[in-house]
Amino acid sequence: MWTFIIILGLLFAITGLVLLFDKIMGGSGEKIITINEDTLIPVVGNDTALNSLSRNKIYIPSACGGKGTCGTCKFRLIDYHEPPKPTEMSFLSQAEVDTGIRLSCQTKVSTDLKILIPPGLLNANVFQSKVVKIERMTYDIKMVRFELTEPMHFKPGQYAQIMVPGFEEDRAYSIASDSKDPYMIELIIRQVPKGLASTYVNQALKVGDKVRLTGPFGDFFLQEESTKPIIMIAGGSGKAPIRSIIYRLIDKGFDREATYFFGARTQADLYLTDYFMDISKQFKNFTYVPALSHLPKEDDWAGERGLITDVVGRYTEDLSNHEAYLCGSPGMIDACIKVLKSKGMKEQNIFFDKF
Ligand SMILES: Cc1cc2nc3c(=O)[nH]c(=O)nc-3n(C[C@H](O)[C@H](O)[C@H](O)COP(=O)(O)OP(=O)(O)OC[C@H]3O[C@@H](n4cnc5c(N)ncnc54)[C@H](O)[C@@H]3O)c2cc1C
Ligand code: FES
Repeated sequence: MWTFIIILGLLFAITGLVLLFDKIMGGSGEKIITINEDTLIPVVGNDTALNSLSRNKIYIPSACGGKGTCGTCKFRLIDYHEPPKPTEMSFLSQAEVDTGIRLSCQTKVSTDLKILIPPGLLNANVFQSKVVKIERMTYDIKMVRFELTEPMHFKPGQYAQIMVPGFEEDRAYSIASDSKDPYMIELIIRQVPKGLASTYVNQALKVGDKVRLTGPFGDFFLQEESTKPIIMIAGGSGKAPIRSIIYRLIDKGFDREATYFFGARTQADLYLTDYFMDISKQFKNFTYVPALSHLPKEDDWAGERGLITDVVGRYTEDLSNHEAYLCGSPGMIDACIKVLKSKGMKEQNIFFDKF
C-alpha cells in the first residue's frame, strides 16, 4: 500500500515538474494571444505568431510565406522585452524596434503575447476564386478578373493577396474593381522580370483556374467622409487602386473635384485611356491627365509631356485644402510628395501605397 502511495506521489511530482519545465521553456501548452487589448485567442504548440494567428483566421499580410525575407508581416508586441532576431533587423528601423514592432513570422508563441494590429486585419479572410477573364492592358500588364464564392467586402484602395500555387507564397495586388460587387475582384498585374507571382499571372494563369486570395488589407483607401478636392497620381500598375476609388466617386455622383495624373514613359505604357477620358467628359468635376516622360520629339502624342512631378507642378496651385492619393514606385511617390508639400498640401492629407 505504502509503495503504491509513494509511486503515485512520485508520478504527480514528475508530472508537475514536466509541466513547470514546459511552461518555463514555452512548450506546447496553451498560450493566449491578446489582440488589440480585447480579442483573446488561445493557441497551442510553439509555432510562430503568423501561423498561430492564421490558424485562427486572423491573416497578417505576408509575402514570403513566413521565411523572414519580405518584411511585410509586422505587428506590435506590448510588454515583451526580447530583442528582435538578427533575421528581423534588416526590416526594422530603430524606432520600430524601440516601440515593439517585430516580424510575426519570426516571433514564436512561447509565452502569452499581447499584440497590436490594425483593426481592419480582423476582417481579412481567405477566399476561393475562379479566373473568369484575363485582358492584356499593355505589353507587360494584364488585368485579371476573379469570381469569388464568398464576398470580399473591401474599401476602394485596399489590396488583396494572391497565393502562388506550388510555392505557398503570397503577393499583394491592389484591387482595381468596384467595391459595390464584392464577388468580383479585378487586379492589374505588371510583369516583373523573373518575378515569381507576376510571371505566374502573366504567363501561366488561365481562365477557369482556381486561385486562393486573402484580404482585404491596407490603410490606403478613399476617405469617404472628406469633402476636400482630390489629387490622384499613379504610374504603371498603380492605376489599380485609383480605378477602384474612381468607381466609388462615380457612385457618389462625383460630388468632389478630382484631378488624376497618370505618369508613363511612352504611348506603349498607356492603358484604359479612353475609359478615363470618357469619365472626364461625363463628370465636369473630374479631369484626367496622362503624361509621357520618354517620348522622342517627333512622336505624335498630343497630351502632356515630361516627368509627372513637373506636370503636377504645372497644373496645380494652392493645395493647402486638397487631399492626395498616390500609387506607384517609391521614387515616384517620394518625388510627388515633395511637389505636393511645396504647394501647401498637409502631410496628413497625403495617402499612398508604394510598390
Ligand atoms: C500594398 C501593395 C500593393 C501592390 N499592388 C500591386 C498592383 O496592383 N499591381 C502590381 O503589379 N504590383 C503590385 N504590388 C507589387 C507586388 O506585390 C509584387 O511585389 C510584384 O508583383 C513582384 O512580385 P513577384 O513575385 O513577381 O516578384 P518577386 O519574385 O517577389 O521578385 C523578383 C525580383 O524582382 C524584384 N522586384 C520586386 N518587385 C519589383 C518591382 N516592382 N520592380 C522591379 N523589381 C522588382 C525583387 O527585388 C526580386 O529581385 C503591390 C505591392 C504592395 C506592397
Ligand atoms: S512573412 Fe515575409 S518576413 Fe514575415
